[in-house]
Amino acid sequence: MKVGIIGSGGREHAICHSINNSKKVNKIYCFPGNAGTFKIAENINLDINNFKELKDFILEKEINLIIVGPEKPLVDGLVDYLESYKIKVFGPNKTASQLEGSKIFTKKLCQKFNIPTAKFGIFQNSEEARKFLKHSNYPIVIKADNLASGKGVYICNDKTEAQIAIEEIFNGKFGKAENLLIEEFLNGEEMSFFTLHDGKIFKNFGTAQDHKRVFEGDKGKNTGGMGAYSPSRLINDELEKKIINKIIKPTLKGLSELGCEYKGFLYTGLMIIDNNPYLIEYNVRMGDPECQTILPKLKNDITDIFLACCEKKLNNIKIEWSDKNSLCIVLCSKGYPETFKKNVELDNLNKIILNQNEFLFHAGTSNNNNKILATGGRVLNFVALSEKFIDARTSIINNLKKLNWRGGFYRKDIGFKVIQE
Ligand code: AMP
Ligand code: GLY
Repeated sequence: MKVGIIGSGGREHAICHSINNSKKVNKIYCFPGNAGTFKIAENINLDINNFKELKDFILEKEINLIIVGPEKPLVDGLVDYLESYKIKVFGPNKTASQLEGSKIFTKKLCQKFNIPTAKFGIFQNSEEARKFLKHSNYPIVIKADNLASGKGVYICNDKTEAQIAIEEIFNGKFGKAENLLIEEFLNGEEMSFFTLHDGKIFKNFGTAQDHKRVFEGDKGKNTGGMGAYSPSRLINDELEKKIINKIIKPTLKGLSELGCEYKGFLYTGLMIIDNNPYLIEYNVRMGDPECQTILPKLKNDITDIFLACCEKKLNNIKIEWSDKNSLCIVLCSKGYPETFKKNVELDNLNKIILNQNEFLFHAGTSNNNNKILATGGRVLNFVALSEKFIDARTSIINNLKKLNWRGGFYRKDIGFKVIQE
């Protein structure tokens, strides 16, 4: 069969790699893909915001299954659009994607179903929001309502920082803002919890711990994710039951009251305080770099899983995992998450010889006359599986040293909470 993947990051290369291991699949297209997917798939340079062009290509090539990686096309309704042409698509529809597309949609659902989350207020203009600050405790969290690629969240330590956040959001730093959210600061440890849904049932799909801050010791600006490890050190049976019963099931009930089923990956971003889960956010897709960290542990043929989800047959699948621990370090362009040089060559890639427990997933890379260039802020994802997290990290760092890319930097402390040195 033929499979198409929408997206161009590390997550999409990891998905492409897993699909490439499937005996069922003889052709993969990536829209638009990167220099990593180029080796195992055909990269198609189409504008993924142009749904009609995508649909025409998919129908012309008779692609049997489409996997949507990133949130934007999901929130914009790509699944609904393609399904109206009878194309099989793995991913949630537009209504369900509001779980990520609108923080206020999710907060209102939490209110209605008593889902544990930070206390919050919604404000339509900066005057009202500033008035509220007079009686606030700090730190306080201020968020833009719309999709902001994870960057529209401010943790403010005092009133001045909070006022700047409010002005920046309402001045359109993250796109047109009609609302902003002010939230109580939750002081705990974060965990990403993944589930896989077929519209009828869902199954767990692993846990991970991302490292969002740019510098070691969790310092500096927020990024898309500098590295991750899986499983999270926090997960246990009791916590898992609470997450499912207090958060995920009520959410699905809320969606079903809107006449909506959930199909695809659901990423539940949690703060864990004293073994109790609080919902921070939903994402309607796999995490990046969590996906790169989790998929190498999967033993199943991933195409069976995607097909089962599209055909409401997830019940028939037993998801099996390697018992090994997994760790991922992201190599970034110097300057990320702010300005960085583009089109810097990644030399030395041929010096990296991976063993069967090591993986290298490309993110912001492209091919240019047999050269591989770094084109994005997050460039490569090095992943290793091992009995011990520390051994996974050591083998990754050895590979990063062999690459010795002068255009980049990475965090050497990924997994510090599970690695005692
Ligand atoms: P989000 O884009 O909602 O995931 O937020 C980005 C990051 O901000 C999260 O991963 C958390 O580290 C932090 N964050 C968001 N909301 C809160 C909160 N209410 N309390 C503490 N930290 C938060
Ligand atoms: N790693 C965070 C995200 O994918 O949103």
